[in-house]
Amino acid sequence: MFAFDFNEMSASDQVDVLGLIGRAMNLDELEYARQTFDFHFACLSAKGKFAVESNRIFYIAKHHTEIKGVIGLHQYRWGPSENIWLSWFAVEPEWQGQGIGQWMLKKIQNLAVQQGYKKLFIETYGHDTFSRALKFYQKQGFLPAGQIENYLTDGSDMLVLVKALS
Ligand SMILES: CC(C)(COP(=O)(O)OP(=O)(O)OC[C@H]1O[C@@H](n2cnc3c(N)ncnc32)[C@H](O)[C@@H]1OP(=O)(O)O)[C@@H](O)C(=O)NCCC(=O)NCCS
Repeated sequence: MFAFDFNEMSASDQVDVLGLIGRAMNLDELEYARQTFDFHFACLSAKGKFAVESNRIFYIAKHHTEIKGVIGLHQYRWGPSENIWLSWFAVEPEWQGQGIGQWMLKKIQNLAVQQGYKKLFIETYGHDTFSRALKFYQKQGFLPAGQIENYLTDGSDMLVLVKALS
């Protein structure tokens, strides 16, 4: 369908992926993503008795040598083992609306199914930055699962969506 590779993200991709997230979302999200990736890759490189598992995995979509999309999964250790959450999903702005997001979401859903997960949750926000994403998720079959008012510092609500995996 596309001339894209879909591979696990490595620490060396972090700068490019953060740039993409900054352009596709905003600077607050870039900073939150930086903290997530710093933690995740520190966990992966940690050895010995203080090593901690990040319970996250990230994939990138590359067009030739350039990263055009990122998507991930995050599992809460303390939650039901059949539940999995989408994590850091973005497509380079000028590449949006061409089916790349749909293609990446399908790939990550397949991976989640293969690993035995039954429900895929998404956390997004009632902020303009995410209005396109919200419509996208609804078209992909995600249903509203909850809302936390006044969650972001600007007063935006957190919106939780869910889809049954099969
Ligand atoms: C949400 C996001 C990741 C979706 O990625 P995307 O690449 O724009 O999504 P897609 O192009 O696959 O969306 C499918 C749309 O493209 C259209 N499309 C165009 N060409 C297509 C093709 N060749 N194949 C499939 N769909 C195509 C589809 O018809 C569909 O349009 P519709 O929604 O009007 O039905 C992206 O918009 C984004 O990065 N947003 C900003 C960051 C963000 O909010 N992330 C989510 C945080 S929770």
